[in-house]
Amino acid sequence: MKIVTLTLNPALDKSASVERMAPESKLRCSAPQLDAGGGGINVAKGIQRLGGACTAVFPVGGLNGQRLLGLLAAADIPVQTIDVAGETRENFSVLETGTGLQYRFTMPGTHLTETEADACLEAVRALAPTIIVASGSLPPGLPDTYYAKVAAFAKDIQAKFILDTSGAALQAAANEGLFLLKPNLGELSALVGVPKLEMNQVDDAAMEIIHRGKCAIVVVSLGPHGALLATRDGFVHVAAPIVEKRSTVGAGDSMVAGMVWALGQGKQPLEMAQAGVACGTAATMNPGTELFRPADVWRLLDWIQTFGKRYRFTDF
Ligand SMILES: Nc1ncnc2c1ncn2[C@@H]1O[C@H](COP(=O)(O)OP(=O)(O)OP(=O)(O)O)[C@@H](O)[C@H]1O
Ligand SMILES: [Mg+2]
Repeated sequence: MKIVTLTLNPALDKSASVERMAPESKLRCSAPQLDAGGGGINVAKGIQRLGGACTAVFPVGGLNGQRLLGLLAAADIPVQTIDVAGETRENFSVLETGTGLQYRFTMPGTHLTETEADACLEAVRALAPTIIVASGSLPPGLPDTYYAKVAAFAKDIQAKFILDTSGAALQAAANEGLFLLKPNLGELSALVGVPKLEMNQVDDAAMEIIHRGKCAIVVVSLGPHGALLATRDGFVHVAAPIVEKRSTVGAGDSMVAGMVWALGQGKQPLEMAQAGVACGTAATMNPGTELFRPADVWRLLDWIQTFGKRYRFTDF
């Protein structure tokens, strides 16, 4: 299996901490930490952390783009990039140490033309992937239908397409058809046209997407309740172990990384969803933007595969 992640809206993530947030006065911050960010790039970091291999494809621009490249080179993550006119965005987050609250300032993405995005797709084609993973929002400049175009492209090159995004971009791609969707509860609600689904409506809603016939697998992530896996064979709930939660930042991307890694190992859908829940939950055990520690993942996966079976969705 050759895995490629596509990040159309990458970011340089800068984080620092301050004792207390307050207006007007100077806020004396700790030395900032820089991380490579953006959905698909986070997924690539997660896959690599699990011992898997993948290539991250994304547009780069300006000095921030160069710093992003430097961070990924230092982490030994293979990349294929397209030079673009705009400057790669920088996001900023501040941890208020006095309260443990995190403030996340997210900048608008770098403007990307459709020609520049298409050049990224050509870079993906040249890598001849069997799995393409896209995660994150679309940047300004691209139409809401762009992930639907990626879905059609994936079918054309006979690759499995896995998508984690929201809103109109998700809707359009789901209508085009793809291998796997990972909506959270809000995203699933929007997909089936309901303001807010209740927990007991999740299985019907996920099966409705499957019965539309355009999507082989739906994994609905349910935060502390784990995930619901739906395929043509039916649905099953994967419970998340109870852990001491520090920060849920990156839980969604970690979950996608776990599932893609498992697919790359030739695992079947249930084991894939279990690996996803193990990685998502392990990510919540770490503070800040840190993803997960593999040792936590293997321990949680063991729990999910042995004790987790006793729990049924109806227990909640
Ligand atoms: N509080 C929690 N306790 C245990 N596991 C959690 C918790 N929150 C998230 N997870 C794990 O992470 C997975 C993904 O989380 P969630 O459903 O919150 O995704 P998301 O809304 O897409 O997140 P993101 O904001 O990162 O996009 C869950 O399926 C679960 O395994
Ligand atoms: Mg998400």
